[in-house]
Amino acid sequence: MDSEKLELLRKLREELKKGGGLDRIEKQHKQGKLTARERIEVLLDPDSFIEYDEFVLHRATEFGMRERKYLGDGVVTGVGLIEGRPVAVYAQDFTVMGGSVGEMHAMKIAKLLDMALKLGIPVIGLNDSGGARIQEGVDSLKGYGEIFYRNVLASGVIPQIVAIMGPCAGGAVYSPALSDFIIMTKKSFMFITGPKVVKAATGEEVTYEELGGPQIHAYHSGVAHFVTEDDEEALDLIRRLLSYLPSNNMEDPPITKTDDDPNRMDYELDDLVPDDPETPYDMYDIITHVLDKDSFLEVHKFFAPNAIVGFGRLDGIPVGIVANQPKVFAGALDINASDKIARFIRFCDAFNIPIITFVDVPGFLPGTAQEQAGIIRHGAKIIYAYSEATVPLLTIIVRKAYGGGYIAMASRHLGADVVFAWPTAEIAVMGPQGAVEIIYKRKIAEAPNPEELIKKFTKEYREKFANPYIAASRGYVDKVIEPHETRPLLIRSLRLLLSKRALKPRIPKKHGVMPA
Ligand code: HXC
Repeated sequence: MDSEKLELLRKLREELKKGGGLDRIEKQHKQGKLTARERIEVLLDPDSFIEYDEFVLHRATEFGMRERKYLGDGVVTGVGLIEGRPVAVYAQDFTVMGGSVGEMHAMKIAKLLDMALKLGIPVIGLNDSGGARIQEGVDSLKGYGEIFYRNVLASGVIPQIVAIMGPCAGGAVYSPALSDFIIMTKKSFMFITGPKVVKAATGEEVTYEELGGPQIHAYHSGVAHFVTEDDEEALDLIRRLLSYLPSNNMEDPPITKTDDDPNRMDYELDDLVPDDPETPYDMYDIITHVLDKDSFLEVHKFFAPNAIVGFGRLDGIPVGIVANQPKVFAGALDINASDKIARFIRFCDAFNIPIITFVDVPGFLPGTAQEQAGIIRHGAKIIYAYSEATVPLLTIIVRKAYGGGYIAMASRHLGADVVFAWPTAEIAVMGPQGAVEIIYKRKIAEAPNPEELIKKFTKEYREKFANPYIAASRGYVDKVIEPHETRPLLIRSLRLLLSKRALKPRIPKKHGVMPA
């Protein structure tokens, strides 16, 4: 071959590596961030990356754009392997005009999404961008629109994971928000409207961190599912997360080998629930004792900690875990917990991941704040999501299962395939104290010493309802089990349920109208 032609290609490739310039790369490193190409290298199996559209250039002419042409237009796109499985990946290059999204930058991402969808492979976005490229005006907005449209088409078909590794400003937040999981590094922030907000008390400008740093989105808004210290940890987490997921909705999640005995009886479980029903305990202990050792990956750890969701494995089979956490609000379901649980159920259902639900719920969180903010429509999402789900649903009632909480938390009535209850289970319309005060209101009011009467009625109520046997006598609970039997029984049931087919055909419809 003509050596000049080869030389040209090699020269262009060298130029590509420089991104927006060596000085900007140095700045990126000084900030403790990797460059787009370095991130891809850390993320993927060695030497597996095939880059596409390296020579794409923007077509803008205004605001000095004619002079500013960078190969690749500020985003690196392509395919590669993670643990030998193909993935599509894009990484925004902050060194090129702040990773801003112009028409051609967006075209590259949209093209990658089309390819991922066609091939049925997960798409991973590594975001580090100042948002819509201001110089490109409406072409830039069009570009975003085309990305969002594809995010929606891909939703429920291929897993979409986004790591925010720098700025994510303005409408740019909506592509991550339409994805399945958002990871934020400690160097990142996300906000819709600029930070030019002034604090009334001090007159100081609100900082990016205060407006939309990882703390805000992990603890308060629920936008971020995970927070990591740095880029490397985020990239490692993506690899781990993918190990629980199928490549697309037509596949089953990958089953792995485990050293943990599927028949392991765990006698520590027998002592985890305190004798006093009002004493809290840590639901994490139950989850981690039952699952394969070290297999639990919690999602949304800091948001709505009264509920727990995450991935785990039982005899190597990936499962989704949903649980109440009696340590926080006694495990009551509030608005945020409802959103967190419902979304997680829908993700698992879309991607063929069986769901194991551990129940200890006194009901929905009462109070004006919750009512006024719409606990009715938010709580309804849990009911909707479980009822809609066709993946295997296995439920363990550990302690309280009261009222709406009993129904909503994967009860038999919403389609659970197997419901186990521990002997500590209490299944009733409401807690003893509240129930007695309502049904014996008159008798208590007329009694000379009401306290004593309340105690007596409460004891009677507890003896009658605070157990799993009435529900078991109706067949709402399939089996009352000893806690130490939980792991082997779940694994045997799960293996059987892997061949589950939905029994009741559903009436064809375009789609339901989920409460929102
Ligand atoms: C064009 C941009 C840009 C943008 C940054 N740059 N954002 N160029 N369009 N949106 C360029 C800068 O001009 C600069 O170029 C380089 O990127 C690095 O930016 P710096 O400001 O020097 O870096 P830093 O101090 O780290 O600050 C980063 C930043 C800041 C926080 C992201 O640049 C910023 O606030 N940018 C604007 C954010 C924003 O409001 N975006 C638009 C949102 S509206 P040079 O050549 O000087 O190095 C939006 C609507 C889209 O996105 C709606 C879609 C639905």
